[in-house]
Amino acid sequence: MEKIRILGGKALEGTVRISGAKNASLPDVCASILTDQPLILGNVPEVGDIRTMGRVLSAMGVETDIRVGGVVELRAAKLTSVEATYDLVKTMRASVLVLGPVLAREGRARVSLPGGCAIGDRPIDLHLTALERMGAEIEVEHGYVEAKAKRLRGAEINFDTVTVTGTENIMMAASLAEGETILRNAACEPEIADLADLLVKMGARIQGAGGSTIRIEGVDRLHGAEHTVIPDRIETGTFVAAVAMAGGEIEIRNCHPPHLRSVLDKFREIGVRIEEGPDNLRVRAPRTVKPSDVTTNPHPGFPTDMQAQYMALMTMANGVSTITESIFENRYMHVAELQRMGASIRVDGRVAQVRGHTPLNGAQVMATDLRASACLVTAALAAKGETIIDRVYHLDRGYWRIDEKLRGIGADIERIDRGSDSGQRATDHAQIA
Ligand code: EPZ
Repeated sequence: MEKIRILGGKALEGTVRISGAKNASLPDVCASILTDQPLILGNVPEVGDIRTMGRVLSAMGVETDIRVGGVVELRAAKLTSVEATYDLVKTMRASVLVLGPVLAREGRARVSLPGGCAIGDRPIDLHLTALERMGAEIEVEHGYVEAKAKRLRGAEINFDTVTVTGTENIMMAASLAEGETILRNAACEPEIADLADLLVKMGARIQGAGGSTIRIEGVDRLHGAEHTVIPDRIETGTFVAAVAMAGGEIEIRNCHPPHLRSVLDKFREIGVRIEEGPDNLRVRAPRTVKPSDVTTNPHPGFPTDMQAQYMALMTMANGVSTITESIFENRYMHVAELQRMGASIRVDGRVAQVRGHTPLNGAQVMATDLRASACLVTAALAAKGETIIDRVYHLDRGYWRIDEKLRGIGADIERIDRGSDSGQRATDHAQIA
């Protein structure tokens, strides 16, 4: 089982290039199902989740060519299956994103329920209710969603809870539906607008994506397109957190600062010095870290995918900070690992209280999910001594070569393979994305 070894205490300096957004690439590749023409996507990160989604699509008959350099060519000339099986879906819940497109294209779909994961139950009831409102017959049995619809009809849909992949699933399904669909309380994440941009290039008629009300006028057919995926705002935020913790000054290139406005504002508030360019950031570590409370919220609020990295940084603050995780019910798996490194954190339900300043010490720790593993990396950069992070496959699902990128800006970090896994822990659930 691959591990990452980090020797803390080395300040970072130099330039790092951000990869394409994993959470934009995942719905974007699924849009290939909506046409029999080729789709060419650029700036796709070669991360584990993209490879998994490639397997899901290939199993359905989509020709997928994941080339080096982040170019992916996809063509669903003809689907040979309408099924996304449990063995693939259980490893990546985002596989549910094939449901809307397959149903819209083929009139039927059979997709495994994703099941729970480390950070929560992750239901998809909002996806299913919305498809029913569009005329789909939905049955859930033996752990699978069976969906049928001669042709989906446009409908007015009001999401009770903001759901990112729910919004994406329905936006794709509605693109080929009969009539107009209006989504209310839609997710506003930049990844939604990126998918809409792609769908419009394919001939879809969409207005309002990026806001909370989206209108989609269904069309009879969509055609191929070329599209470059937006930069990864969470990877960007993770590197800002890394230099804030490790010390030093770095240049972050190929990013889009407005996509992580709430993160940059919060980091400036606690003392991180950030200069912004159109597609770059110059970030200098704070002289001292001020404590500051944060609550995660749907975009444009502080993103839940940055909560763990922020918590690690708050261990260095001069005082107590309170973190409230309002999106997922169990997204504090990183707390126990940070405590093993010397952090003083108390969790009560969705609220975590971080008492700084507690010097972190290197330790053997275990990644439990994608963003928790990123926080262990940033913590290890600041810790005294050596940290070994186990189960780094979690990290590789969403960060492309983060160890190489960090080494390139001065971190003492390397991959090692120290024997077998240190034993299966109950917390090792299915993947979360
Ligand atoms: C997306 O997950 C992201 N994944 C997650 O990133 C991200 O943390 C999350 O949005 C929130 O921003 C991808 O985009 C592939 P939700 P998603 O549906 O769409 C509840 C990462 O680290 N809910 O917005 O699955 C749900 O339980 C991953 O890259 C329902 O109750 O999240 C949660 O509490 C982790 N019923 C809340 O809504 C539903 O039908 C938000 O979930 C759907 C969701």
